[in-house]
Amino acid sequence: MSKILPLEANHFISKNTVFKTLNQGVVTAKAPSNIALVKYWGKEKNQIPKNPSISFTLSACFTQTTVKFKKKSEINTFAIEVFFEGKKHDSFKPKILTFFERIEKYMPFLKHYSFSIETRNSFPHSSGIASSASGMAALSLCLMQIEKKINTNLADDYILKKASFLARLGSGSASRSIKNGIVVWGKHPKIKGSSDLFGIPFPYTIHENFKNYHDTILLVDKGEKTVSSTVGHQLMENHPFANVRFEQANNNMIAIKNILQNGDIKQFINIVESEALTLHGLMMSSNPYFILMKPNTLEIIQKIWKFRKDTNLPISFTLDAGANVHVLYPEKDRIAIHKFIVSDLIEHCQNNHYIRDRVSFDEK
Ligand code: PMV
Repeated sequence: MSKILPLEANHFISKNTVFKTLNQGVVTAKAPSNIALVKYWGKEKNQIPKNPSISFTLSACFTQTTVKFKKKSEINTFAIEVFFEGKKHDSFKPKILTFFERIEKYMPFLKHYSFSIETRNSFPHSSGIASSASGMAALSLCLMQIEKKINTNLADDYILKKASFLARLGSGSASRSIKNGIVVWGKHPKIKGSSDLFGIPFPYTIHENFKNYHDTILLVDKGEKTVSSTVGHQLMENHPFANVRFEQANNNMIAIKNILQNGDIKQFINIVESEALTLHGLMMSSNPYFILMKPNTLEIIQKIWKFRKDTNLPISFTLDAGANVHVLYPEKDRIAIHKFIVSDLIEHCQNNHYIRDRVSFDEK
């Protein structure tokens, strides 16, 4: 059954036309990357997810974007220039133009200005870490700052909600890159305030065990993905396991909601690893089928499982849509687990590269 775009989307249409008096300006915003615990894989029209998802917002991996805007006289087309890490980057333009087309309804001022968008990531360009989530979130935050200049009455809460709403239209998982901590995106009847339109902070008390949770990202393959997530989402449309998968994700959301409150790390590991392998299992059982893991991805997983069995330490992993491995572990065991990562796992990374990250709870 197809979900219908909720009416509340109209809530985000900017009716203000005062932009006629704003000539130019500069805005800057920073947005974090995130790693999903329960994964989003499969979508409806208008970037509505087939199932809810939940993620850790990261600290070390982020995108910083500056947008310079200037009034233009012609208002029939979008005018953008994109710079990535100081250099003109025309290959990013089509994605941003598509994004502008999708959000114009909610930001009627977009065709009235020319935009120079300068963006940089804290993580290396070719690291296999998707920058679309943090990139679209940072751009959306910039656009909301421009909207705030036009309409100074906008409340902070509305700004963040609409930034997440816009970011979602650029890249679904970007909706979870606006807020720190743990973020839920997608409507779930048992999670209060959850919405298909934007991400919300996990609305329950988080157990101490999950504060400062570590995520060491092992860069197994820094190349471009062979199959994009856009194609992966589409392949869920005729996927033989689609309906059971969406049901499973909904059940896992309930399980993780309880786990994050009661601090049960053993159950956490079970859900998170199962979600990672399910995501890749769905890729392998799509038609056409594909594999994004590499031999080193599996080497690392096997070593994590052996180390966990031998030491009883709560190390676990998750995967994004790629070969890199996110090694997850609680603050209290960070020393022993980090030692193991360095001595046994980084040899499986490209050029021994890895990034030490953790869930961020700092308020902006
Ligand atoms: O945001 P997209 O369209 O690139 O999809 C990302 C999907 C996963 O990263 C694989 C899972 C998720 O929930 O982040």
